[in-house]
Amino acid sequence: SESYPNLERNKDFAKLSDADIEAFKQILGGNASGVITNSDDLLFFNEDWMRKYKGQSQLCLKPKTTEQVSQILKYCNDHKLAVVPQGGNTGLVGGSIPVFDEIVLSLSNMNSVRSFDNVSGILKVDAGVVLETADMYLAEQGFIFPLDLGAKGSCHVGGNVATNAGGLRLLRFGSLHGSVLGLEVVLPDGTIVNSMDALRKDNTGYDLKQLFIGSEGTLGIITGVSILCPARPKAVNIAFLGVESYEAVQETFKKAKNELSEILSAFEFMDRSSQVLAAHMIKQSHPLAQDEEPDSTGVSQPPEYPFYVLIETSGSNKDHDDAKLESFLENVMEDGTVSDGTVSQDESQLRTLWRWREGIAEASNQFGGVYKYDVSLPLPVLYELVEAVKVRLAEHDLISFDDASKPVVDAVGYGHVGDGNLHLNVSVRGYNKDVEKVLEPFVYEWIQEHKGSISAEHGLGFQKKNYVGYTKSDVEIKLIKDLKKHYDPNGIMNPYKYI
Ligand code: FAD
Ligand code: MLT
Ligand code: ZN
Repeated sequence: SESYPNLERNKDFAKLSDADIEAFKQILGGNASGVITNSDDLLFFNEDWMRKYKGQSQLCLKPKTTEQVSQILKYCNDHKLAVVPQGGNTGLVGGSIPVFDEIVLSLSNMNSVRSFDNVSGILKVDAGVVLETADMYLAEQGFIFPLDLGAKGSCHVGGNVATNAGGLRLLRFGSLHGSVLGLEVVLPDGTIVNSMDALRKDNTGYDLKQLFIGSEGTLGIITGVSILCPARPKAVNIAFLGVESYEAVQETFKKAKNELSEILSAFEFMDRSSQVLAAHMIKQSHPLAQDEEPDSTGVSQPPEYPFYVLIETSGSNKDHDDAKLESFLENVMEDGTVSDGTVSQDESQLRTLWRWREGIAEASNQFGGVYKYDVSLPLPVLYELVEAVKVRLAEHDLISFDDASKPVVDAVGYGHVGDGNLHLNVSVRGYNKDVEKVLEPFVYEWIQEHKGSISAEHGLGFQKKNYVGYTKSDVEIKLIKDLKKHYDPNGIMNPYKYI
C-alpha cells in the first residue's frame, strides 16, 4: 500500500474524541450498527479496490436519512472534523479512502428507490443505491440506466455522480452532466440543497447541480439523485472483431458510425496485451480463438491480432438491427478493415464477450498491483501513449511478462475509444516507487504535449492531486479553489485530495 512520507496531517483538524462518538450515536438515534469503530470492521473502508491506498480512519458512520447526514456534517464542520464520503468504494484514484484519520461517511444504508415515472423515465433514488440494483429495477419496467460499468455490482449511483463516471454506454446516452436532472446534496455546514423535482428543462439561472457532478466528495455529500432513463433496447447484438492495426481500429469506428448510426451503442477497443492478461484470469479460450491449446496452467493465448474491437448495437427491431450489423460486417471484412470476428445475440454469450473487455480492470491487478492512467486524447495519437510507455519501461529495464525479477508484468491499452478515452494499465508485481517515478510525471507530460486530459472519467482523487495543472490552467485552478473555499471554508470535505 501507498505510504505518505511527504504529507502531513493538517493540524487544524480536530482529533476524534469519545464525546464526538457519543454525539454521532445520538444523531443516528442510538443505531449502533451505523457507528463503526472496530478496527477489523474498518478495514474495508480504509482500503481501496486496487489495494493501493490505505487510510487510518477510526470511525465510519452509516446514516439512514438525509437529515442525519445534515446533522453529522454540521457537527463535523462546527468541530473541525474532516470527512470522506464513501459509496461503493470502487473508485480508482484513491478518492474514497481517508488519507489520515478522517471520518468515513458511508452512504450504504441509504439505498431505497424513491420513485419512478414510467412516462417521463425519471428515476429518483437515494445516493447509496447500487448501480446494478437500479438497472434491474428499471429493467422490470422496460427502462435502462443510462450508465453501465464493470463495477456495477458494487458502485453506488451517488458515487457514480460524484465521479461523473463515463463507462460503456456514454457513446449512446451521453454523460451524467446531461442525464442527471436533479440532486439532493448536503453542504458541509449541514444545509440541504434539493433540486430533486427538477424537470427536463429549466433555465432559471445557474445549473448548480453541475458543480457536484464530478466533484469527488470535495464540496458536499450527494444524498439523492434524479436521473432521466431511456427505454430499454429490445434487441442487443455484439460483434467482437480482430484488426491488424490501430489505424484499422479508427477506420472501423468511422464505418461503424456511418453504417450502424443510431443503433451503435458501444465501441470499445483492446490491445493484444490486454487480452493476454484477461486470458490469464478468465482461463477460457478467447472469443476469436481457432484451435489454440491451453498451456499447463489452463491459459490459452488469444490469436495474434494486435487489436480487438467490441461493437454493441441496441435497438427496438431485431430484424432491422441484425440486417444492418450483418451488412456492416460484410463490408468491413470484404474491404479488409477487419480481419476476423464473431457475433452474438444470446444473453449468456453477450456476457462472455463483454467479460473479455470489462474483465481487463481486474486482470491488470491480478499479479499484485496496477498503475492506472485514464486519459482523453485526440484519436490519431491515442494509442501512441501506450507504445511510448512500453519503450520507456524497457529502457529502464523494468518490464517482462516472464521474468519475475522485473517489477512490471506488462503495459496494456484498451478503453472507450469511441469517446476518445484510453485506459493505460501498467500491471505490476507489487507497488514500486522506482516504477512510479519512471511513469510519473512522464505520462502526464506526454498527455499535456498531445493536448489530452489526465482524467477522462476516473477523476483526480489522491493519485492525481499534484498533476491537475497538466490539464487545467492556473486561472481555472484558482476558480476551483475559490468555489471550494466558498462552500467548504473549513476544508473538511475530503481533504488532501485534488484541491
Ligand atoms: P467511491 O469509490 O466510494 O467514491 C468515489 C469518489 O466519490 C470519492 O472521492 C468519494 O469521496 C466520492 N463519493 C462517493 N459517494 C459520494 C456521495 N454520495 N457524495 C459525495 N461524494 C461521494 N469509472 C468510469 O468512469 N467508467 C468505467 O467504465 C469504470 N469502470 C470501473 C470498473 C471497475 C471494475 C472498477 C473497480 C471501477 C470502475 N470505474 C469506472 C471507477 C468508478 O469511478 C467507480 O466505479 C464509480 O463511479 C465510483 O462509485 P462508488 O460508489 O464506488 O464511489
Ligand atoms: C473500464 O473502462 O474498464 C474502467 O474504466 C475501469 C478500468 O479501466 O480499470
Ligand atoms: Zn472506463
